[in-house]
Amino acid sequence: MTPTMHLMRRIVGNSALIGLMGLPLMAHAADTTLHEFQGANLVKGQQAYTDLKCAACHAERMMGSTSAMYTRPDRKVHNPRQLLAFTQMCVTQLNHDLFPEEVKDIAAYLNQTYYKFK
Ligand code: HEC
Repeated sequence: MTPTMHLMRRIVGNSALIGLMGLPLMAHAADTTLHEFQGANLVKGQQAYTDLKCAACHAERMMGSTSAMYTRPDRKVHNPRQLLAFTQMCVTQLNHDLFPEEVKDIAAYLNQTYYKFK
């Protein structure tokens, strides 16, 4: 450790340094621990998303892109609750009758893959 770092440590204090370093780690871990997606099964979500062919219809409307629906500048979903609601809406539109847990799995998968709400 250089003398300057020593000095900074004394000024800033160890806890502040640890706090700064811990921040990005915690934000990352929060990915699937969001209240709205608690207990969600991402593997099942991805499987259902594939089985229900969600991406095909979106791609038809987004010039062939399977992701643009979620990443377009004027997308409709801005928070986890809206993501759950929109997922439910598309599921209902498809005449699929899923359990709330299954809708949550899909929404959590979309969050992990595209929206990344924390
Ligand atoms: C028959 C076509 C179709 C299918 C199939 C479909 N969707 Fe959609 N979806 C749409 C359209 C159209 C929009 C955009 C609606 C709008 O802009 O108001 C959309 C938007 C969405 C959005 C919001 C995107 C945003 O703006 O942030 C989500 C989330 C979503 N769909 C999830 C799903 C899921 C999950 C499935 C599969 C269960 C699915 N969709 C299947 C047509 C479809």
